[in-house]
Amino acid sequence: MIETEEIERILKKYKRPKIATCCSHSSLQIFHGARLEGFETLGIVTDKNVKFYGSFPNASPDKLMKVHWFSDIVEKAEELVKNEVILVPHGSFVEYLGKALDDLPVPVFGNRRCLLWERERDRMFEWMKRAGFDTPKVKRRESIDGPCMVKFPGARGGRGYLIVRDKEEFDRKTQNAIKKGFITEEDVKNCMIQEFLIGVRFYPHYFYTPLQKQNYSTKKGSLELMSMDRRIESDVDEIYRAMGIGVVEDPAYVVAGNEPLVMRESLLPKVMEMGVGAVEAAEELFGGIPGPFCIETICDRDLKFRVFEISARIVAGTNLYPNGSQYSAFMFNEEMSTGRRIAREIKLAAKAKRLADVVY
Ligand SMILES: Nc1ncnc2c1ncn2[C@@H]1O[C@H](COP(=O)(O)OP(=O)(O)O)[C@@H](O)[C@H]1O
Ligand SMILES: [Mg+2]
Repeated sequence: MIETEEIERILKKYKRPKIATCCSHSSLQIFHGARLEGFETLGIVTDKNVKFYGSFPNASPDKLMKVHWFSDIVEKAEELVKNEVILVPHGSFVEYLGKALDDLPVPVFGNRRCLLWERERDRMFEWMKRAGFDTPKVKRRESIDGPCMVKFPGARGGRGYLIVRDKEEFDRKTQNAIKKGFITEEDVKNCMIQEFLIGVRFYPHYFYTPLQKQNYSTKKGSLELMSMDRRIESDVDEIYRAMGIGVVEDPAYVVAGNEPLVMRESLLPKVMEMGVGAVEAAEELFGGIPGPFCIETICDRDLKFRVFEISARIVAGTNLYPNGSQYSAFMFNEEMSTGRRIAREIKLAAKAKRLADVVY
Protein backbone atom coordinates (compact mmCIF):
# COMPACT_ATOMS: atom_id res chain seq x y z
CA MET A 1 0.00 0.00 0.00
CA ILE A 2 1.25 3.45 -0.92
CA GLU A 3 2.79 5.41 1.98
CA THR A 4 0.65 8.08 3.64
CA GLU A 5 3.64 10.46 3.40
CA GLU A 6 3.63 10.19 -0.37
CA ILE A 7 -0.03 11.19 -0.57
CA GLU A 8 0.59 14.03 1.90
CA ARG A 9 3.44 15.24 -0.28
CA ILE A 10 1.11 15.35 -3.31
CA LEU A 11 -1.64 17.09 -1.32
CA LYS A 12 0.76 19.81 -0.14
CA LYS A 13 1.30 20.86 -3.75
CA TYR A 14 -2.42 21.18 -4.51
CA LYS A 15 -3.63 24.79 -4.76
CA ARG A 16 -7.23 24.24 -5.92
CA PRO A 17 -8.21 20.59 -5.55
CA LYS A 18 -10.76 19.18 -7.96
CA ILE A 19 -13.19 16.41 -7.08
CA ALA A 20 -13.09 13.43 -9.41
CA THR A 21 -14.55 9.97 -9.71
CA CYS A 22 -15.41 7.30 -12.25
CA CYS A 23 -18.65 8.01 -14.07
CA SER A 24 -20.84 5.25 -12.62
CA HIS A 25 -22.63 4.18 -9.39
CA SER A 26 -23.20 7.47 -7.48
CA SER A 27 -21.08 9.79 -9.58
CA LEU A 28 -23.86 12.19 -10.62
CA GLN A 29 -24.65 12.79 -6.97
CA ILE A 30 -20.93 13.27 -6.16
CA PHE A 31 -20.46 15.80 -9.00
CA HIS A 32 -23.73 17.56 -8.17
CA GLY A 33 -22.70 17.92 -4.53
CA ALA A 34 -19.19 19.03 -5.39
CA ARG A 35 -20.51 21.73 -7.67
CA LEU A 36 -22.84 23.02 -4.95
CA GLU A 37 -19.78 23.38 -2.72
CA GLY A 38 -17.93 25.30 -5.41
CA PHE A 39 -15.50 22.62 -6.56
CA GLU A 40 -14.43 21.97 -10.11
CA THR A 41 -15.09 18.38 -11.07
CA LEU A 42 -13.51 15.80 -13.32
CA GLY A 43 -15.24 12.64 -14.52
CA ILE A 44 -13.35 9.58 -15.67
CA VAL A 45 -15.64 8.15 -18.31
CA THR A 46 -15.64 5.14 -20.60
CA ASP A 47 -16.04 5.86 -24.32
CA LYS A 48 -19.58 4.54 -24.54
CA ASN A 49 -20.88 6.80 -21.74
CA VAL A 50 -19.46 10.16 -22.85
CA LYS A 51 -22.81 11.40 -24.18
CA PHE A 52 -24.74 10.36 -21.08
CA TYR A 53 -22.37 11.93 -18.55
CA GLY A 54 -22.10 15.13 -20.57
CA SER A 55 -25.87 15.67 -20.52
CA PHE A 56 -26.79 16.97 -17.05
CA PRO A 57 -26.53 20.73 -16.57
CA ASN A 58 -26.42 20.38 -12.77
CA ALA A 59 -24.40 17.21 -12.41
CA SER A 60 -22.13 16.65 -15.43
CA PRO A 61 -18.46 17.01 -14.54
CA ASP A 62 -16.70 20.16 -15.76
CA LYS A 63 -14.14 18.03 -17.46
CA LEU A 64 -14.28 14.50 -18.86
CA MET A 65 -11.26 12.24 -19.03
CA LYS A 66 -11.89 9.39 -21.44
CA VAL A 67 -10.65 5.89 -20.74
CA HIS A 68 -11.20 2.62 -22.51
CA TRP A 69 -11.91 0.90 -19.22
CA PHE A 70 -11.69 2.11 -15.58
CA SER A 71 -8.59 0.06 -14.84
CA ASP A 72 -6.77 2.42 -17.25
CA ILE A 73 -6.86 4.99 -14.43
CA VAL A 74 -3.57 3.55 -13.23
CA GLU A 75 -1.84 4.89 -16.37
CA LYS A 76 -3.55 8.25 -15.92
CA ALA A 77 -2.30 8.77 -12.37
CA GLU A 78 0.18 11.49 -13.31
CA GLU A 79 -2.38 13.40 -15.34
CA LEU A 80 -4.86 13.17 -12.46
CA VAL A 81 -2.34 14.60 -10.02
CA LYS A 82 -1.51 17.37 -12.50
CA ASN A 83 -5.23 18.20 -12.43
CA GLU A 84 -5.03 18.41 -8.60
CA VAL A 85 -7.59 15.68 -8.25
CA ILE A 86 -8.98 14.06 -5.11
CA LEU A 87 -10.67 10.81 -6.11
CA VAL A 88 -13.94 9.83 -4.43
CA PRO A 89 -14.26 6.05 -4.31
CA HIS A 90 -17.66 4.41 -4.81
CA GLY A 91 -18.85 0.83 -5.31
CA SER A 92 -18.03 0.44 -9.01
CA PHE A 93 -14.77 2.32 -8.59
CA VAL A 94 -13.63 -0.08 -5.87
CA GLU A 95 -14.81 -3.12 -7.81
CA TYR A 96 -13.19 -2.20 -11.13
CA LEU A 97 -9.91 -0.98 -9.67
CA GLY A 98 -9.54 -3.83 -7.17
CA LYS A 99 -6.05 -4.14 -5.74
CA ALA A 100 -4.74 -1.44 -8.11
CA LEU A 101 -6.28 1.12 -5.77
CA ASP A 102 -3.88 0.18 -2.97
CA ASP A 103 -0.85 1.72 -4.67
CA LEU A 104 -2.51 4.31 -6.88
CA PRO A 105 -0.41 7.48 -6.45
CA VAL A 106 -3.43 9.80 -6.39
CA PRO A 107 -5.13 11.18 -3.25
CA VAL A 108 -8.32 9.29 -2.41
CA PHE A 109 -11.08 10.66 -0.18
CA GLY A 110 -11.38 8.65 3.06
CA ASN A 111 -8.96 6.04 4.34
CA ARG A 112 -8.09 3.70 1.49
CA ARG A 113 -7.09 1.00 3.99
CA CYS A 114 -10.74 0.40 4.80
CA LEU A 115 -11.40 -0.67 1.22
CA LEU A 116 -9.03 -3.55 1.83
CA TRP A 117 -11.21 -4.64 4.74
CA GLU A 118 -14.33 -4.29 2.66
CA ARG A 119 -12.86 -6.48 -0.11
CA GLU A 120 -12.20 -9.62 1.95
CA ARG A 121 -15.10 -11.31 3.66
CA ASP A 122 -13.08 -12.79 6.55
CA ARG A 123 -11.65 -9.41 7.44
CA MET A 124 -15.09 -7.87 7.09
CA PHE A 125 -16.37 -10.32 9.71
CA GLU A 126 -13.47 -9.47 12.00
CA TRP A 127 -14.41 -5.78 11.70
CA MET A 128 -18.11 -6.46 12.28
CA LYS A 129 -17.37 -8.62 15.33
CA ARG A 130 -15.05 -5.97 16.76
CA ALA A 131 -17.84 -3.44 16.24
CA GLY A 132 -20.02 -5.60 18.48
CA PHE A 133 -22.47 -6.57 15.73
CA ASP A 134 -24.71 -9.58 15.78
CA THR A 135 -23.65 -11.22 12.49
CA PRO A 136 -25.16 -14.22 10.67
CA LYS A 137 -23.76 -17.55 11.81
CA VAL A 138 -21.05 -18.81 9.47
CA LYS A 139 -21.22 -22.53 8.72
CA ARG A 140 -19.06 -25.25 7.26
CA ARG A 141 -20.52 -27.51 4.56
CA GLU A 142 -20.92 -30.31 7.12
CA SER A 143 -22.84 -28.17 9.59
CA ILE A 144 -25.50 -26.73 7.25
CA ASP A 145 -28.77 -27.40 9.05
CA GLY A 146 -31.28 -24.95 7.63
CA PRO A 147 -31.48 -22.21 5.00
CA CYS A 148 -28.09 -20.68 4.26
CA MET A 149 -26.80 -18.22 1.69
CA VAL A 150 -23.58 -19.23 -0.05
CA LYS A 151 -21.45 -16.24 -1.03
CA PHE A 152 -18.50 -16.50 -3.37
CA PRO A 153 -15.40 -14.26 -3.26
CA GLY A 154 -15.45 -10.72 -4.56
CA ALA A 155 -18.13 -8.08 -4.83
CA ARG A 156 -20.74 -9.39 -7.20
CA GLY A 157 -23.69 -7.17 -6.42
CA GLY A 158 -25.46 -10.22 -5.04
CA ARG A 159 -24.96 -12.12 -8.31
CA GLY A 160 -24.69 -15.89 -8.24
CA TYR A 161 -25.39 -16.48 -4.53
CA LEU A 162 -26.93 -19.85 -3.74
CA ILE A 163 -29.53 -20.81 -1.16
CA VAL A 164 -28.97 -24.25 0.33
CA ARG A 165 -30.61 -26.16 3.16
CA ASP A 166 -28.23 -29.09 3.70
CA LYS A 167 -24.86 -30.36 2.47
CA GLU A 168 -26.42 -32.40 -0.36
CA GLU A 169 -28.08 -29.28 -1.74
CA PHE A 170 -24.78 -27.42 -1.31
CA ASP A 171 -22.94 -30.06 -3.37
CA ARG A 172 -25.62 -30.24 -6.05
CA LYS A 173 -25.95 -26.48 -6.51
CA THR A 174 -22.24 -25.66 -6.42
CA GLN A 175 -21.45 -28.46 -8.93
CA ASN A 176 -24.20 -27.19 -11.18
CA ALA A 177 -22.85 -23.62 -10.98
CA ILE A 178 -19.34 -24.86 -11.81
CA LYS A 179 -20.70 -26.78 -14.80
CA LYS A 180 -22.43 -23.65 -16.04
CA GLY A 181 -19.17 -21.71 -15.67
CA PHE A 182 -20.59 -19.25 -13.11
CA ILE A 183 -17.98 -20.17 -10.49
CA THR A 184 -14.77 -22.20 -10.20
CA GLU A 185 -13.71 -24.99 -7.82
CA GLU A 186 -11.50 -22.37 -6.19
CA ASP A 187 -14.54 -20.14 -5.54
CA VAL A 188 -16.30 -23.05 -3.83
CA LYS A 189 -13.26 -23.59 -1.60
CA ASN A 190 -13.29 -19.90 -0.65
CA CYS A 191 -17.02 -19.41 -0.30
CA MET A 192 -18.73 -18.30 2.88
CA ILE A 193 -21.85 -20.14 4.02
CA GLN A 194 -24.05 -17.77 6.03
CA GLU A 195 -27.19 -18.46 7.98
CA PHE A 196 -30.10 -17.01 5.98
CA LEU A 197 -31.50 -14.10 7.98
CA ILE A 198 -35.22 -13.48 8.15
CA GLY A 199 -36.55 -9.96 8.70
CA VAL A 200 -36.63 -6.51 7.14
CA ARG A 201 -33.60 -5.01 5.45
CA PHE A 202 -32.41 -1.52 6.37
CA TYR A 203 -29.35 0.15 4.92
CA PRO A 204 -28.55 3.24 7.02
CA HIS A 205 -26.08 5.69 5.44
CA TYR A 206 -23.63 7.37 7.80
CA PHE A 207 -20.97 10.04 7.59
CA TYR A 208 -18.13 10.11 10.08
CA THR A 209 -16.05 13.23 10.55
CA PRO A 210 -12.83 13.29 12.57
CA LEU A 211 -12.71 17.08 12.17
CA GLN A 212 -15.09 17.99 14.95
CA LYS A 213 -16.62 16.54 18.08
CA GLN A 214 -20.17 17.80 18.16
CA ASN A 215 -23.72 16.43 18.01
CA TYR A 216 -23.42 12.63 18.06
CA SER A 217 -19.85 12.38 19.25
CA THR A 218 -17.53 9.38 19.18
CA LYS A 219 -14.12 8.99 20.83
CA LYS A 220 -12.38 11.12 18.21
CA GLY A 221 -15.03 12.79 16.09
CA SER A 222 -18.71 12.71 15.33
CA LEU A 223 -21.24 10.67 13.45
CA GLU A 224 -24.07 11.85 11.20
CA LEU A 225 -27.03 9.84 9.93
CA MET A 226 -27.43 11.01 6.34
CA SER A 227 -30.20 8.80 4.99
CA MET A 228 -31.46 5.24 4.65
CA ASP A 229 -32.62 2.94 1.87
CA ARG A 230 -33.64 -0.56 1.02
CA ARG A 231 -32.30 -2.28 -2.07
CA ILE A 232 -34.53 -3.87 -4.63
CA GLU A 233 -33.03 -7.06 -5.82
CA SER A 234 -33.99 -9.01 -8.89
CA ASP A 235 -35.76 -11.22 -8.74
CA VAL A 236 -36.27 -11.95 -5.06
CA ASP A 237 -38.08 -8.71 -4.27
CA GLU A 238 -40.93 -9.38 -6.66
CA ILE A 239 -40.89 -13.13 -6.48
CA TYR A 240 -44.65 -13.22 -5.81
CA ARG A 241 -45.19 -12.31 -9.47
CA ALA A 242 -43.34 -15.41 -10.62
CA MET A 243 -45.04 -17.50 -7.96
CA GLY A 244 -48.39 -16.16 -9.16
CA ILE A 245 -47.87 -17.85 -12.51
CA GLY A 246 -46.57 -21.03 -10.93
CA VAL A 247 -42.82 -20.51 -11.38
CA VAL A 248 -40.91 -21.75 -8.36
CA GLU A 249 -37.24 -21.21 -9.01
CA ASP A 250 -34.48 -20.10 -6.69
CA PRO A 251 -34.58 -16.31 -6.73
CA ALA A 252 -31.49 -14.22 -7.47
CA TYR A 253 -30.35 -11.32 -5.26
CA VAL A 254 -28.97 -8.97 -7.90
CA VAL A 255 -29.22 -5.29 -6.94
CA ALA A 256 -31.32 -3.44 -9.50
CA GLY A 257 -32.33 -0.28 -7.64
CA ASN A 258 -33.12 1.34 -4.32
CA GLU A 259 -36.20 2.46 -2.44
CA PRO A 260 -36.44 5.10 0.29
CA LEU A 261 -37.65 4.20 3.74
CA VAL A 262 -37.63 5.41 7.31
CA MET A 263 -37.39 3.43 10.48
CA ARG A 264 -39.45 3.47 13.67
CA GLU A 265 -37.91 6.36 15.55
CA SER A 266 -37.39 4.15 18.62
CA LEU A 267 -34.85 2.13 16.62
CA LEU A 268 -32.70 5.10 15.64
CA PRO A 269 -30.67 5.22 18.88
CA LYS A 270 -29.56 1.64 18.17
CA VAL A 271 -28.66 2.60 14.61
CA MET A 272 -26.44 5.42 15.87
CA GLU A 273 -24.72 3.12 18.36
CA MET A 274 -24.06 0.59 15.59
CA GLY A 275 -22.46 3.38 13.58
CA VAL A 276 -20.25 4.29 16.52
CA GLY A 277 -19.29 0.61 16.84
CA ALA A 278 -18.19 0.51 13.19
CA VAL A 279 -16.23 3.76 13.53
CA GLU A 280 -14.39 2.82 16.71
CA ALA A 281 -13.57 -0.69 15.52
CA ALA A 282 -12.23 0.85 12.31
CA GLU A 283 -10.00 3.13 14.38
CA GLU A 284 -8.56 0.19 16.29
CA LEU A 285 -8.13 -2.08 13.29
CA PHE A 286 -6.94 0.16 10.48
CA GLY A 287 -6.79 3.80 11.49
CA GLY A 288 -10.39 4.94 11.06
CA ILE A 289 -13.09 5.51 8.52
CA PRO A 290 -13.46 9.21 7.69
CA GLY A 291 -16.34 9.87 5.28
CA PRO A 292 -19.43 7.93 4.27
CA PHE A 293 -20.20 4.30 5.02
CA CYS A 294 -23.21 2.01 5.25
CA ILE A 295 -24.14 -0.87 7.53
CA GLU A 296 -26.23 -3.54 5.82
CA THR A 297 -28.72 -4.89 8.32
CA ILE A 298 -31.70 -7.15 8.72
CA CYS A 299 -34.08 -6.26 11.54
CA ASP A 300 -35.89 -9.31 12.90
CA ARG A 301 -39.33 -9.64 14.49
CA ASP A 302 -37.87 -8.89 17.92
CA LEU A 303 -36.53 -5.65 16.43
CA LYS A 304 -32.95 -6.87 16.82
CA PHE A 305 -30.46 -5.91 14.13
CA ARG A 306 -28.30 -8.50 12.42
CA VAL A 307 -25.48 -7.11 10.27
CA PHE A 308 -24.20 -8.94 7.20
CA GLU A 309 -21.91 -6.33 5.61
CA ILE A 310 -20.36 -2.88 5.91
CA SER A 311 -19.73 -0.75 2.82
CA ALA A 312 -16.76 1.43 3.62
CA ARG A 313 -17.61 4.24 1.16
CA ILE A 314 -20.59 5.98 -0.40
CA VAL A 315 -23.37 3.51 -1.33
CA ALA A 316 -25.74 3.83 -4.28
CA GLY A 317 -28.76 4.04 -1.95
CA THR A 318 -27.73 7.65 -1.22
CA ASN A 319 -28.71 8.47 -4.84
CA LEU A 320 -32.28 8.71 -3.60
CA TYR A 321 -31.45 11.94 -1.77
CA PRO A 322 -29.64 14.52 -3.96
CA ASN A 323 -31.59 17.21 -2.08
CA GLY A 324 -31.12 15.75 1.37
CA SER A 325 -33.24 13.24 3.26
CA GLN A 326 -35.72 12.83 6.08
CA TYR A 327 -32.70 12.51 8.38
CA SER A 328 -30.23 15.04 6.98
CA ALA A 329 -32.96 17.67 7.47
CA PHE A 330 -32.40 17.34 11.22
CA MET A 331 -28.69 18.14 10.91
CA PHE A 332 -28.33 20.67 8.12
CA ASN A 333 -30.08 23.86 7.10
CA GLU A 334 -29.19 23.06 3.51
CA GLU A 335 -30.13 20.29 1.13
CA MET A 336 -27.30 17.98 2.09
CA SER A 337 -26.72 14.83 0.03
CA THR A 338 -23.89 12.47 0.90
CA GLY A 339 -22.11 13.65 -2.27
CA ARG A 340 -22.32 17.24 -1.09
CA ARG A 341 -21.26 16.25 2.43
CA ILE A 342 -18.08 14.74 0.99
CA ALA A 343 -17.27 17.99 -0.80
CA ARG A 344 -18.06 19.97 2.35
CA GLU A 345 -15.67 17.80 4.33
CA ILE A 346 -12.86 18.38 1.85
CA LYS A 347 -13.52 22.11 2.07
CA LEU A 348 -13.55 22.13 5.88
CA ALA A 349 -10.43 19.98 6.09
CA ALA A 350 -8.54 22.16 3.61
CA LYS A 351 -9.46 25.27 5.59
CA ALA A 352 -8.25 23.66 8.83
CA LYS A 353 -5.09 22.39 7.06
CA ARG A 354 -6.16 18.85 7.95
CA LEU A 355 -6.70 17.38 4.49
CA ALA A 356 -4.45 14.45 5.38
CA ASP A 357 -6.96 13.44 8.08
CA VAL A 358 -9.70 12.80 5.54
CA VAL A 359 -7.76 12.00 2.37
CA TYR A 360 -5.33 9.12 1.82
N1 LIG B 1 -27.13 -13.68 5.57
C1 LIG B 1 -28.09 -13.25 4.76
N2 LIG B 1 -29.39 -13.64 4.95
C2 LIG B 1 -30.37 -13.21 4.11
N3 LIG B 1 -30.16 -12.40 3.06
C3 LIG B 1 -28.91 -11.99 2.82
C4 LIG B 1 -27.81 -12.38 3.66
N4 LIG B 1 -26.68 -11.82 3.19
C5 LIG B 1 -27.06 -11.12 2.09
N5 LIG B 1 -28.38 -11.20 1.87
C6 LIG B 1 -29.13 -10.62 0.73
O1 LIG B 1 -28.31 -10.69 -0.42
C7 LIG B 1 -28.00 -9.38 -0.91
C8 LIG B 1 -26.56 -9.29 -1.39
O2 LIG B 1 -25.67 -9.65 -0.34
P1 LIG B 1 -24.30 -8.89 -0.04
O3 LIG B 1 -23.54 -9.73 0.91
O4 LIG B 1 -24.61 -7.50 0.36
O5 LIG B 1 -23.64 -8.93 -1.46
P2 LIG B 1 -22.57 -7.94 -2.12
O6 LIG B 1 -21.28 -8.28 -1.46
O7 LIG B 1 -22.62 -8.27 -3.56
O8 LIG B 1 -23.04 -6.55 -1.77
C9 LIG B 1 -28.31 -8.47 0.28
O9 LIG B 1 -28.65 -7.16 -0.10
C10 LIG B 1 -29.47 -9.19 0.95
O10 LIG B 1 -30.70 -8.96 0.30
MG1 LIG C 1 -23.84 -5.74 0.01
